[in-house]
Amino acid sequence: MTVELSGVGAGLEGYAMLSAQLEALLAGERNLVASAAQLSAFIFQEVPDLNWAGFYFVDGQDQLLLGPFQGRVACMRIPFSKGVCGAAATERRTQRVEDVHAFPGHIACDAASRSELVVPLVKDGRLVGVLDLDSPHPARFSEADQAGIEGLVAVFLTATDC
Ligand code: SME
Repeated sequence: MTVELSGVGAGLEGYAMLSAQLEALLAGERNLVASAAQLSAFIFQEVPDLNWAGFYFVDGQDQLLLGPFQGRVACMRIPFSKGVCGAAATERRTQRVEDVHAFPGHIACDAASRSELVVPLVKDGRLVGVLDLDSPHPARFSEADQAGIEGLVAVFLTATDC
């Protein structure tokens, strides 16, 4: 499948198009790992200025375990009590961090990361994991990026058994 994109950085219109493309990309396959791998690659190739895009899934009571991703090697496990990912898991709320150096407890997996967007994956009231995006640019993620990526996560959760 060829995915063409123009101007996703510009706002919600670009994300509406990505959302439709993602629905097509995930159609006919409900496997969690395969779909998560596709979504991390899809975001990494279509959303500009990222250095990391991927998943952590809930493991046990209070830990996140690394899932499919694109980018440099990363921390395997993150306790709910640590980092931006842990905050998203604990609060079940998207964390949009303009300057990771100013975020208490931020975990620097890739020293190049300057800003971060972490969206919790909540399906039927259950926390499944988080989707984490990192950028080497400060304040890379706007409110439109947050809404757009949350929309892609909603498509993913509907299309996937998890
Ligand atoms: N920076 C994240 C850790 C995960 S990596 O960025 C891939 C955090 O503080 O939770």
